Amino acid sequence: MAKQVLVSGGAGFIGSHVTVELAQAGYDVVVADNFSNCDKTCYEGVCRILGKRPPLVEMDFCDKAAVEKLFSDYQIDAVIHFAAFKAVGESVAEPVKYYKNNLLSFLNLLEVASVKGGNVLFSSSATVYGETDQLPVTEQSPRQSATSPYGNTKQICEDILRDSVKAYLGLKGIALRYFNPIGAHPSALIGELPRGVPNNLVPFITQTAIGKRACLSIFGNDYPTPDGTCQRDYIDIVDLARAHVCAVARMLDGKMEQAYEIYNVGTGRPVSVLELVTAFEKVNGLKLNYKFAPRRPGDVTAIWADPTLANEKLGWKATRTVEQTLASAWAWEKHLAEKQ
Ligand code: WQD
Repeated sequence: MAKQVLVSGGAGFIGSHVTVELAQAGYDVVVADNFSNCDKTCYEGVCRILGKRPPLVEMDFCDKAAVEKLFSDYQIDAVIHFAAFKAVGESVAEPVKYYKNNLLSFLNLLEVASVKGGNVLFSSSATVYGETDQLPVTEQSPRQSATSPYGNTKQICEDILRDSVKAYLGLKGIALRYFNPIGAHPSALIGELPRGVPNNLVPFITQTAIGKRACLSIFGNDYPTPDGTCQRDYIDIVDLARAHVCAVARMLDGKMEQAYEIYNVGTGRPVSVLELVTAFEKVNGLKLNYKFAPRRPGDVTAIWADPTLANEKLGWKATRTVEQTLASAWAWEKHLAEKQ
């Protein structure tokens, strides 16, 4: 009997890619989403890729009764929790909205999942490390005080999970700290679909290339980095999704060594904004319209992962090159344009 994994926020960018990889690895998947931050484009794309329709439950994890019903309607062997708001800038403008949604949804989930000794995989972020000059960061690198309510909700949820596995017998937890997820599924049927003006770099690049945006602003070229622009660890979305499959297997196959484990999910390779733009132009054979602009408040100069622990304990390693990833991002943008 296949194990069943609940993917909360499973209709979103990362959730939909994880759903595909889980299903293709032989797991049954239940997708739950309130569609507050996405439409059904990616869910329909998942169905086309898989050739079947994973059960889809439209619900809000802030509604405790709905969470209880979900767990009584389905046999859930593990949960991957993506359902949260994730726009850094918006979180600064609307902190109560972010704390209420991101914390209450996770607390409801944990309360219900822990009743039967659940397996909970939390979608965390490298943002918890803040600004640091001790690079690459490992899981032992200190968390800096968050620079946004969004980042703070990630730290608080990590602590909630850490404390819950100590208190509730049988509950196990893994936090995956993502670096910068980019790209799209090779089928070009699912990908990043930000609402309105993209906050993140790669969707802004592809929308500029397709003509939806006039010009990319590179926020700051006076940083203390080789080319003056910020450095990040850009992780291909399919590589990232596969890390979740490895983490679920570790939980369900009883391989965990601690009740709560944390893993960096990154490539270990720093790439600057300018290097990414140049690589995008080269691999896709186009010229991008960009200009240098003032620094964006809240940006860290540089951050990239030491992914050794995930490589060793999860048996996972990033495999796709940044060129492959940028080609997939462009193919997805062109697919969206054809649909319009
Ligand atoms: C990357 C670099 C920008 C847009 C955030 C969150 C993280 C995760 C990913 C949700 C920075 C520069 C960007 C643009 C630019 N969020 N940039 N022009 O800020 O590293 O990480 O998004 O899951 O938790 O912290 O990602 O893509 O916004 O920025 O120059 O139009 O690109 O200044 O240096 P970031 P990003």
